[in-house]
Amino acid sequence: MTKILMVCLGNICRSPLAEGILKSKVFSFKTFVDSAGTGAYHIGKKPDPRSISIANLNGLDITDQRARKFTVEDFDNFDLIYAMDNSNYQNIIDLARNENDKSKVKLILNEVFPGENLDVPDPYYGGDFGFKNVYKMLDEACEIIAKKINPNV
Ligand code: 4NP
Repeated sequence: MTKILMVCLGNICRSPLAEGILKSKVFSFKTFVDSAGTGAYHIGKKPDPRSISIANLNGLDITDQRARKFTVEDFDNFDLIYAMDNSNYQNIIDLARNENDKSKVKLILNEVFPGENLDVPDPYYGGDFGFKNVYKMLDEACEIIAKKINPNV
């Protein structure tokens, strides 16, 4: 079973969408998908209403998710850890205990634009357009991730 963790800062905007989108694409095969935040501000909270709304518009229900903080144990529990932006990436790498931990951490948009190290922009302080844009980027990235796990998708 492939285990994938999506990570952003608050675990209420971007990574809950990434979790919901990837789950919807891999539901038929053995993959465990979860998400977490590098910050502790929103622990226990539901996704941001704007993430819930854009997910709904695309036929996904992410309301059962609750924010949690990334922990060092996540390096043991997951095969791949996708950071939404360079700042999240660095925060995760700073917690890595060894090269094996580090090798699991990727920037999610490098799946779409290899080697470009692009950020999924933080939509928290913006309007609804930011969330629509984030959804589109994550949908493209998750389509590629799902195909890597199961080429028959
Ligand atoms: P996320 O967005 O990292 O995509 O969940 C944010 C949510 C909350 C905050 C920052 C980013 N915050 O500063 O509270």
